[in-house]
Amino acid sequence: MKEKIEELKERFKSALALANDEQSLDELRVSFLGKKGVVAELMKGLRDVEDKKTAGQLINNFKTEVENSISDCEKMLEKARIDAQIRGAKKYNPTLKTEDRSGSYHPITLATREVEAIFESMGFTIEDYYEVVDDYKCFEALNIPKHHPARDMQDTYYLDNGQLLKTHTSAAQNAVMRKYGAPLRAIFPGRCFRNESTDACHENTFFQMEGMMIDENISISNLIYFMKTMLSLVFERDIKVRLRPGFFPFVEPGFELDINCLICGGEGCPSCKNSGWLELCPCGMIHPNVLREGGIDTEKYTGFAFGLGLTRLAMMKYGVKDIRTFNSGNLKSLSQFKSL
Ligand code: DAH
Repeated sequence: MKEKIEELKERFKSALALANDEQSLDELRVSFLGKKGVVAELMKGLRDVEDKKTAGQLINNFKTEVENSISDCEKMLEKARIDAQIRGAKKYNPTLKTEDRSGSYHPITLATREVEAIFESMGFTIEDYYEVVDDYKCFEALNIPKHHPARDMQDTYYLDNGQLLKTHTSAAQNAVMRKYGAPLRAIFPGRCFRNESTDACHENTFFQMEGMMIDENISISNLIYFMKTMLSLVFERDIKVRLRPGFFPFVEPGFELDINCLICGGEGCPSCKNSGWLELCPCGMIHPNVLREGGIDTEKYTGFAFGLGLTRLAMMKYGVKDIRTFNSGNLKSLSQFKSL
């Protein structure tokens, strides 16, 4: 029985390697797991076997292996299908007239889902969080006490009841740490609000994606690795990153992460003010006060956090020059992004 199963395993492996669409995967499932499939035949054969217990176990293990492999393969095919759709997304053309009346996803939704899929494949969970939060979550839990000058950077909309519209996705850090404890890997995209005068580069309502990874021995190299991998996948080319010191009360050390300019490739051009670099994502090693506030043992764990500007990323990815396009509700512009 053992040899027979080994042989069937090999047969299954070669057949699985050839199953590159949903239909062939379905056929494979029927031929191995179906009523008259390979596993059912093996079960029938048990009648003539002496050591039924061992043989039965072997068959069951084989069956589970086949089920798991097929389900993994299904997930991979689904991911490949979504990736292909995202890659097919057209570049933005502000002059295009749309004849097509079918619905479409907003470019921010597309960019969010793409980044989510990438982080999910690296073991991060995706968290949702409120848009209305309290002072503690938005500032105090992040090592920004009342009257700290760092609050001036985020001109905040306060509500009559003392709550506020979250100014950054970092406002969810505390809740995520409290929910999962350490170790954790999570991203949390969200809409943020600041009292900004709007122009081509500024909006009072915009999107960020926060990420946190907390574990034993997490260092800046982990941060660089995850950001470089994610950005290279998003922009479908090898992205160079560099870190410059930056101050944010909730990280120590804190950084501004730059990527090499996508327009000139790093040579220097007007888009990157001739520096060859574009500022993309503030980040850093989570401040021990913030970890402690989240109930994390700072003797044992360290972590990194980043606050990716999703709106900025979507502008760069789709070549949208005016940030106001996103909240314009103008279907001529926004319905050009069909995928997913
Ligand atoms: N929350 C900051 C902002 O919106 C951005 C930020 C900086 C987030 C550093 C982080 C970080 O997680 O580590 O200005």
